Amino acid sequence: MKSKTVKGNWSLRTKKFGLPSLFFICVFFFLAGFFGASLFSESQEKVYYPRPRARLLDSATEETEYNLLTSGESGDNSITLIPFQVLSWKPRALYFPNFASAEQCETIIDIAKEGLKPSTLALRNGETEESTKGIRTSSGVFISAAEDKTGTLDVIEEKIARATRIPRNHGEAFNILRYEIGQKYASHYDAFNPAEYGPQKSQRIASFLLYLSDVPDGGETMFPFENGLNMDGSYNYEDCTGLRVRPRRGDGLLFYSLFPNGTIDPTSLHGSCPVIKGRKWVATKWIRDQEQDDHDV
Ligand SMILES: *[C@@H]1O[C@H](CO)[C@@H](O)[C@H](O)[C@H]1NC(C)=O
Repeated sequence: MKSKTVKGNWSLRTKKFGLPSLFFICVFFFLAGFFGASLFSESQEKVYYPRPRARLLDSATEETEYNLLTSGESGDNSITLIPFQVLSWKPRALYFPNFASAEQCETIIDIAKEGLKPSTLALRNGETEESTKGIRTSSGVFISAAEDKTGTLDVIEEKIARATRIPRNHGEAFNILRYEIGQKYASHYDAFNPAEYGPQKSQRIASFLLYLSDVPDGGETMFPFENGLNMDGSYNYEDCTGLRVRPRRGDGLLFYSLFPNGTIDPTSLHGSCPVIKGRKWVATKWIRDQEQDDHDV
């Protein structure tokens, strides 16, 4: 029978090769298995595990020499490196540590101090100043880059354009805000829903916040609906919850109010928690889908 023949063959072969050859065969397969596995796991690591991949990215920023191309008329003959951390994809929120220097932040605060007024709200249909009292209690001032004779806002605006990859003339003037102890901004959207605010000439795509001061306690920017949290209708718009970003002088926060398809991202709801200790200064740049007529750069 067939199975018998096979068995017979096998025993014949073992006898023929003898013990030494059997030993070498075993060693061979052991080594092949060992190195094969390590090769395999190495190639897997590069693709899937965050640690080695992060290391690769690091070395790219620190050691790589770039061979530049000839740029177009409006391009650069240098490489721009602006480090950032992805805080969330729902909403798309990115953190830019050390975006501005301490001196730049101080200069912007000095410029803003003179013009501060109580912040206002864009009113929905049917809302009045009285009915919306207490939602936004900060003081603020709008200043365009061109109005700042120190040139600081010009430099920051240019850097924001690079970080967002959206041309400068899509930005509104800087809104520079001060929150004192207890002051806050209840959760809201930066984008204007036409159903609530009426037809819009242009829409806010993204917001870039530059924190100008450290805040020892409170004052976080919060995203209460991050990753679908609190979206069951139970959320109280004053509650400081969800993804919270602590203000640190010189650091930037970018988030998108619209999905790539242009509809409003519900998870972009955000607010400013009350300041508990210290004072919060922040420069906000709202970026729109249309060029801004009044933009002077
Ligand atoms: C737009 O994109 C979002 C997120 O991908 C999706 O949930 C939504 O259904 C889209 N809306 C339209 C009108 O395409």
